[in-house]
Amino acid sequence: MKTILTQADEASVNKAADLLRAGEIVAIPTETVYGIAASAYDGAAVKKIFEAKGRPQDNPLIVHIDRMEMLEGLVASVPEGARALAEAFWPGPLTIIMPRGPKVADEVCAGLDTVAIRMPSHPVARAVIAASGLPLAAPSANRSGGPSPTIAQDVMADMDGRLPLILDGGACGVGVESTVVTLAGDEPTLLRPGFVTKEQLEQVLGREMALAGAVLHKLKEGETARSPGMKYKHYAPKAHVTILRGGFEAYRAYVSAHAGPGVWALCFDGEGERLPVPSVCYGAKEDDAAQARELFSALRRLDEKGAQTVYARCPHVDGVGLAVYNRLVRAAAFEVVEL
Ligand code: TXA
Ligand code: MG
Repeated sequence: MKTILTQADEASVNKAADLLRAGEIVAIPTETVYGIAASAYDGAAVKKIFEAKGRPQDNPLIVHIDRMEMLEGLVASVPEGARALAEAFWPGPLTIIMPRGPKVADEVCAGLDTVAIRMPSHPVARAVIAASGLPLAAPSANRSGGPSPTIAQDVMADMDGRLPLILDGGACGVGVESTVVTLAGDEPTLLRPGFVTKEQLEQVLGREMALAGAVLHKLKEGETARSPGMKYKHYAPKAHVTILRGGFEAYRAYVSAHAGPGVWALCFDGEGERLPVPSVCYGAKEDDAAQARELFSALRRLDEKGAQTVYARCPHVDGVGLAVYNRLVRAAAFEVVEL
């Protein structure tokens, strides 16, 4: 299959909508990361997403809508807390798990009785949903296990020949996938941290939220994931990544002691010049939003440069930093050295 990468404009958005209505899959930009979209009503189309990504069948997808009326038939009900969160954060980078409705294809939910819903804010994503008139199931547009793409060229690198069309909407502003929260159980639980923070969600809900165990730690043998995606190896570049937790001087000393061919640093802005190995930076030390925006791209650039061993600076683990750490610790296969 020939893959066309084209600027998103009215003509290409309409082309994408035609393809989606005909049961095809299309890569589209969102404010978080690029996604591979298919009609959430069409099981055969959704299957093509799993094939293109090499994604395990038991990992469910997020359904993207552009207005509340689209929830009709997709969800069985909208829990009270979900409505409050939607009012506060939609359109935007928040996904809410709700009881599943009859119109959503089985393949989207991977056998669960719940469905993940998000209303994106990106104008291109919204235009494609509006033009097709379809709710779109869309996981991140990477090959399963790799870092999510935040520019159209990175989608092309992973998906060339696997889908017919990629819409280029420029670099994604958020850079990490949406926050995933479930209100389907007894207590609201954060399943995946993102740009909408735990603190912000708690403020709207008026109560504390639980943090799913898999957010910060590797699942133990026999422990089940509330969010199936959390059990898989994720965001991993080819290089072996280790997080070094501590101050810059201790980091520099450790990297100096381990310098050698193929060794790279993944550091904060302005630190590279003071290190004895080549580096890629991912935002300023105190700027967790910039770290989120740049992390996946930085991991891909390290692979392109042929890095074998990467020592990463550790982000703060609160606010948006929780999302940054959650992705980085998976890229590092949970290997963290305390300095
Ligand atoms: O920002 C995003 O959310 C991006 C863009 C494209 O919108 N999409 C995205 O999709 O990150 P994906 O498939 O890469 O991640 C979906 C996550 C997975 O961890 C999956 O297990 C979880 O959401 N999920 C989906 N449906 C679920 C459900 N019913 N219950 C629990 N977790 C669910
Ligand atoms: Mg993903």
